[in-house]
Amino acid sequence: MSRTITVIPGDGIGPDIVESATAILDKAGCDFEYEYVDAGLTALEKTGELLPQNTLDAIERNGVTLKGPLTTPVGEGFTSINVSLRKHFSLYANVRPVLSFTGTQARYENIDIITIRENTEGMYSGLGQKVSEDGNEAEAVSKITREGAERIVRFAYETARREGRKKVTAVHKANILKSTSGLFLKVAREIAEEYPDIESTEMIVDAACMRLVMNPEEFDVIVTTNLFGDILSDLCAGLVGGLGMAPGANIGKDCAIFEAVHGSAPDIAGKNLANPTSVILASIQMLEYLGMQEQAEKITKALEDVISSGDRTTRDLGGSHGTTDFTQAVIERL
Ligand code: NAI
Ligand code: MG
Repeated sequence: MSRTITVIPGDGIGPDIVESATAILDKAGCDFEYEYVDAGLTALEKTGELLPQNTLDAIERNGVTLKGPLTTPVGEGFTSINVSLRKHFSLYANVRPVLSFTGTQARYENIDIITIRENTEGMYSGLGQKVSEDGNEAEAVSKITREGAERIVRFAYETARREGRKKVTAVHKANILKSTSGLFLKVAREIAEEYPDIESTEMIVDAACMRLVMNPEEFDVIVTTNLFGDILSDLCAGLVGGLGMAPGANIGKDCAIFEAVHGSAPDIAGKNLANPTSVILASIQMLEYLGMQEQAEKITKALEDVISSGDRTTRDLGGSHGTTDFTQAVIERL
């Protein structure tokens, strides 16, 4: 029986790159049914809601979702839809791998780093948002719990073990953010002892940024809190050729959402210029999550071949082709 996947095409470049990914999944013989639902600006225009109930129902019902980037309208009192989705479904682990492909414009060649970002707590928990009446003072609450820190650190070590990785680096700022980052680091140290087969290191976030730029090859798995993970994972995307190369999985106990790390790219939307690699890589993460290793490897090989040969690649990869030509080049290799 074929499996049903929820698909949210999204806004801006979303529909084009998601269509590229589903065409490739089909060609690789994945036999999925797709249930298409809307969120973001597209949903707002059709239904008056950014995150309609039937979208939430479909995500829950099918368990696995492939999602294009969503535009959150600015300055109209809307909270980020991505943050809402992560909270609603307790998608506590945000897994953002970056891998060097030959043939890109990237500065480095041997990068293979996974950033595992806590996705529900910390500075993004949305708690205690206050602005004084005169608008001159603002505050927000950053909350870290032992439970939240334990499950993300454990998730990082389990990922490292499953993928045969050697090292987990806990990134923190416990020297300044003594209570919150302090608790995260304390828990990270405790959990590290349960995994003697994996090397455990820790690094202060600012030093980690410097070392990621100078010696990125020394990193393997990074585990960190929400805000640091958001920033570090974009930095890591920059090491391998930019946001067009960076996928992300949001994983919870009962459901998972796979997406590109980047946004809806309004500057290039509707121009057939977007690099669909980010969403194709997210769909590969989805296949791995579903235990469909064979199809995942098949697509990875085809994608690597297109990028390294420069056959019909997009502008951000140094080529001169559009989303559809790039997709066709991958499909021809499957
Ligand atoms: P963005 O990530 O959309 O774009 C940043 C730059 O990267 C732009 O120059 C864009 O053209 C380029 N870019 C992004 N993806 C690309 C691709 N696949 N191929 C080639 N070039 C690519 O960030 P921006 O402009 O700050 O945000 C635009 C909208 O996206 C906002 O409404 C924001 O809220 C939303 N957003 C949504 C996210 C999501 O749904 N996961 C994540 C980040 C932003
Ligand atoms: Mg981000």
